[in-house]
Amino acid sequence: MRPDPLSFLNTELDSLRQQGLYRSLRILDDRQAATAHFDGRSVVNLSSNNYLGLTTHPKLIERALAATKEFGVGSGSVRTIAGTMAIHMELERRLAGFKKTDAVVVFQSGFAANAGTVAAILTKDDVVISDELNHASIIDGCRLSKAAIKVFPHKDADAARTILKGLPASQRKLLITDGVFSMDGDLGALPALCDLAEEFGCIMMVDDAHASGVFGSNGRGTIDHFGVHGRVDIQVGTLSKAIGALGGYVAGTRPFIEFLYHRARPFLFSTSHPPSVAATCLAALDILEHEPAIIERLWENTRFFKAGLKSLGFNTGLSESPITPVIAGEGSLAMKLSDRLFQEGVFAQGIAFPTVARDKARVRTIVTATHTRDELQFALDNFQKVGKEVGLI
Ligand SMILES: Cc1ncc(COP(=O)(O)O)c(C=O)c1O
Repeated sequence: MRPDPLSFLNTELDSLRQQGLYRSLRILDDRQAATAHFDGRSVVNLSSNNYLGLTTHPKLIERALAATKEFGVGSGSVRTIAGTMAIHMELERRLAGFKKTDAVVVFQSGFAANAGTVAAILTKDDVVISDELNHASIIDGCRLSKAAIKVFPHKDADAARTILKGLPASQRKLLITDGVFSMDGDLGALPALCDLAEEFGCIMMVDDAHASGVFGSNGRGTIDHFGVHGRVDIQVGTLSKAIGALGGYVAGTRPFIEFLYHRARPFLFSTSHPPSVAATCLAALDILEHEPAIIERLWENTRFFKAGLKSLGFNTGLSESPITPVIAGEGSLAMKLSDRLFQEGVFAQGIAFPTVARDKARVRTIVTATHTRDELQFALDNFQKVGKEVGLI
């Protein structure tokens, strides 16, 4: 038998084990809900991005089933050949209206939307000015584009300005930030960055994956929350988090979206969503537009849970959103906190390097609109118990 050419990877895995950072996947045995069964244990679930609880909403399920019966289970092709169904176009029109832009293109995921867009519009002669905590999909898109990448310290618009002042006026520039940062839950410096984009003639792009369905009127996102409609050229959102299904989208002008139809590689070279996914997303938009009380419930739960963690004495960073980190420091301590919480019936995922800085490992919590007060109080009681046990509070 020939030696396994991949055996060097075992060394990497052993090193993760030694550092206490090796993770097995937690298996969800039933539905993605506020209390769910993971690895055979019933736990209060603080680890999903299911902000509004839409993954199991009866209206979404009904529309998905109806679309499956009517149109089948798959689209059968990439969008540019035979895989553009009328329901895909209907979803793009609805999303454009929702985001108050001319047009929208839907991708298979938020990751594909970010990476595919940045890689499509930039070349090696261009430059990206990017917040240091921007999502991996933005970073990968920048790398694929071969543009120069200039990183500014988190939310530091003055530092971004210094970078911009040093660049040739003629060079094409993309200024890019997350709307909500996925690990810290704080908001991008949108108004200040929009000012810079106008002053220096940059393309302004915001990844609103965690803001759509959460911030702004009816969940229109941080562009709406900050009142910067018309000042952001490229808005990205996902259909995989608050919307409860799967996918990503890019909103902007009609010519820009038509360009992406021609050049964004995930759009050209990967099959489009099953019709059930598009139907589910349309039902979710109906809920955002007509039943916004669900978003208010999310915020009530967010305020309650955040205040509870703070009053227990945890370091919850600078979060302004339903994502609340409980910062532990050392990776192994964050993992221990997460594991002990799980044993006590609370699922809050531990996050360590390289997802966050080495000394900022944490467990990350996200409440949803569907958590009850009893569930959240149960979680807080166990955070108190386990936090004391591991010496964090
Ligand atoms: C900030 C941010 N952008 C983009 C994505 C990618 O979205 P999706 O899960 O739809 O691929 C994520 C999700 O993990 C995210 O947190």
